[in-house]
Amino acid sequence: MQRKIEIQRRFWNPVYDRLAWLYDGVDWFTFNTTQRLRLPALEALPRPPARVLEVGMGTGRLHAELAARGYATAGLDLAPGMVRRTRRRLAARGLRSMLAVGSVYALPWPDAVFDAVLSTFAFSAFADADLALDEMVRVIKPGGRVVIVDAGEALDGNVMAHLLARTWEAMGDFMRDERPLLAARGLAVTRRDYGPWGCVHVTVGEKSLKT
Ligand SMILES: C[S@@+](CC[C@H](N)C(=O)[O-])C[C@H]1O[C@@H](n2cnc3c(N)ncnc32)[C@H](O)[C@@H]1O
Repeated sequence: MQRKIEIQRRFWNPVYDRLAWLYDGVDWFTFNTTQRLRLPALEALPRPPARVLEVGMGTGRLHAELAARGYATAGLDLAPGMVRRTRRRLAARGLRSMLAVGSVYALPWPDAVFDAVLSTFAFSAFADADLALDEMVRVIKPGGRVVIVDAGEALDGNVMAHLLARTWEAMGDFMRDERPLLAARGLAVTRRDYGPWGCVHVTVGEKSLKT
């Protein structure tokens, strides 16, 4: 655990900030695969013009898609370089969003203001899953959703997804099944695996209307 926290702090955080401009190259090199793997997150969202917060939005490819579809968006990332790129991307398309540099551990929004909080391939970079989820759940309204897309073990236990998960872990990521974490916060949870060997999943937690 401590080793992975150090890898995130010393390696990934500066990489995300200073090499944000390279990040989109991953999509380019993989023939847009990463973007295709993000898109199932959109199917789990309420309809526009719902208020959606994206945490760890990176260079904002999905974020621009959200804004273009008419969502009332807000986005946050720890890396100023990522926020700058997202801002530029939105401006180039004439889109608007409320963007902030900050940490998922201290979201700069009051309680119960969003219809959904969304995160793609970022939850596995958050060392403190409990604090991250406490914050994500705090800012959604009753009936709101937390939508997490990330990589990890497949539910069918296949060996390829297992080996990929171990590789990402060795690179400092935290491979998780988010279902028990969301259920522990009283959310009704669903999960669907997809992508190569089912190594990507979308997990949705819905807050009760009564809370
Ligand atoms: C692997 S990238 C994923 C980016 C994008 N969502 C995607 O689908 O490609 C992880 C992102 O999470 C951000 N991040 C890492 N720790 C964070 C934290 N504590 N709070 C907010 N963002 C964080 C990083 O700066 C980076 O932009």
